[in-house]
Amino acid sequence: MMRLVLQSLRQIGEFGRILGRIAQRGDVILLSGSLGAGKTTLARSIAAGLDVPAEHYVTSPSFSLMLEYQGRMPLYHIDCYRLRGEDDVEESGLMDYIVADGLTVVEWPDRLGGLVPAEHLDIRMDGAGEQARKVVVTPRGRRWLERMDDLKTACAAASIPVEN
Ligand SMILES: Nc1ncnc2c1ncn2[C@@H]1O[C@H](COP(=O)(O)OP(=O)(O)OP(=O)(O)O)[C@@H](O)[C@H]1O
Ligand SMILES: [Mg+2]
Repeated sequence: MMRLVLQSLRQIGEFGRILGRIAQRGDVILLSGSLGAGKTTLARSIAAGLDVPAEHYVTSPSFSLMLEYQGRMPLYHIDCYRLRGEDDVEESGLMDYIVADGLTVVEWPDRLGGLVPAEHLDIRMDGAGEQARKVVVTPRGRRWLERMDDLKTACAAASIPVEN
């Protein structure tokens, strides 16, 4: 587990780009936190770290449920806010993208219920408005556990303070 305090939009951007650069094909990142916590803001920076051209990145997929981008691998940005639970998720056809051939980033993953994949990086964001964001990053499964030291090193190199 790793705790971060992201003081500014610039630091959110740096953290997101680190995640995008460290991502591997088949990865899943789950972004939790209340309305306005910064999940979409972080997802946009993850896209940048995956080399999705900034002009291609539209916005949050709240209405479309899923938006696909092409970077050094595909990015599937999913927003489950409008889904009510597992049945909705299964009907939506999103399961094909939850673990896929690129990086999948999911906002409001609590809607997935028992459909949450075993291997994922759990990111919880706390804070609103202009406040600093408290972020707790927990690896679930071997894929992300193996990269936690790299993630910590990259954060430290970007002057993002890391607490264990
Ligand atoms: N340090 C910060 N970190 C993240 N966002 C910040 C920060 N400071 C200000 N903001 C602003 O907070 C807002 C966060 O909105 P964002 O859409 O990313 O949240 P969200 O978690 O995706 O919300 P939703 O649940 O509605 O999808 C943005 O307008 C962003 O500019
Ligand atoms: Mg959002």
